[in-house]
Amino acid sequence: MSIPFTKALLNWDLNNNNRPMPWKGEKDPYRIWLSEIILQQTRVEQGWPYYERFIKNYPTIFDLAKAKDEKVFKLWEGLGYYNRCRNLLFTARHIVKEMDGVFPKTYASLLELKGVGPYTAAAIASFAYNLPHAVVDGNVFRVFARFYGLATPTDTKEGIVLFNQVALENLSKTEAGNYNQALMDFGATVCKPMAPLCSSCVMQNKCVAFSINKVNQLPVKSKSIQKKNRYFDFYCFQFNDSWLIQKRGPGDIWEGLNQFYLVEQDKLQTIKETNIQTLIKVQLGIQDKYLLTGTQIIFAPYKQQLTHQTIQARFIIIPLKKIPPVFVNELWFNKNQIKKLAFPKIINEFLQQDFLKKC
Ligand code: ADE
Repeated sequence: MSIPFTKALLNWDLNNNNRPMPWKGEKDPYRIWLSEIILQQTRVEQGWPYYERFIKNYPTIFDLAKAKDEKVFKLWEGLGYYNRCRNLLFTARHIVKEMDGVFPKTYASLLELKGVGPYTAAAIASFAYNLPHAVVDGNVFRVFARFYGLATPTDTKEGIVLFNQVALENLSKTEAGNYNQALMDFGATVCKPMAPLCSSCVMQNKCVAFSINKVNQLPVKSKSIQKKNRYFDFYCFQFNDSWLIQKRGPGDIWEGLNQFYLVEQDKLQTIKETNIQTLIKVQLGIQDKYLLTGTQIIFAPYKQQLTHQTIQARFIIIPLKKIPPVFVNELWFNKNQIKKLAFPKIINEFLQQDFLKKC
């Protein structure tokens, strides 16, 4: 195996991944398919008991195929989107009637099944038959966008082509099933959307986003479908009379303008929920010896209305005793220098109203 990412992921899976799930290691394509259809509908914790109830009631595809619609719908209750349940029944009966109950064995023939898209086909092909097909979903976009520092929006044609190509290049061709499951687990438990566990991550020294402090800004989604309301927490790291300032990258609003260290939240959270300490210690790995004991001061709320988005911002001041390793390559500016830099309006307002007077 020559690709560093793949090697590191499989090592992590072997040594650090202890995420138990009832469908893990399953080789029966029927059971894999069932778990994947349920997981299209809901998160792992919620899907787990549904999966177990389905398997208990319908241990084989023959059992499901001859089940009464009503009973299956009842078991599905709470998952929503009943079309998926209808497709489940249709496909089970189709496989029993037309294929003697034997699940298709190639990616292309799996794709022909009703309700099975590229993601599910790749999951079944790799988990059941160890065929070299890469799963590509939100987890995969996030892990690769961060590891390789890819700022191409994931919801554009260009992004989809790029991420599929990256996913295929990184796929372990000999251990496709293990690799795909490991990638999902890694995205769900370490490289999480919010407060990822960077400081203890085995990929840390190879991760581009970590090395340039852009973990919270990747992956990027195109402006067109970006949420209307966006919540920006700017962490203002202060060392002596200097402040950490970053330049905004491409693919989003305010390209080329400057900002404090940004953590975008997907909803408005209380400061308590935001857990500043988690970000500082678990993600950035900044130990107490680097922090001044002064309490964090928070300035909020700031608002800016753009044509298609409303931005709400908070500014959290974090004084440092010395520069931690994670920030050694960052740029630091004093107030006079900051006055000369270009910032988005919302940050300029903060500079005028609070920062230049109070910090
Ligand atoms: N989401 C979709 N498929 C999954 C799987 N096999 N394991 C964990 N999460 C998933």
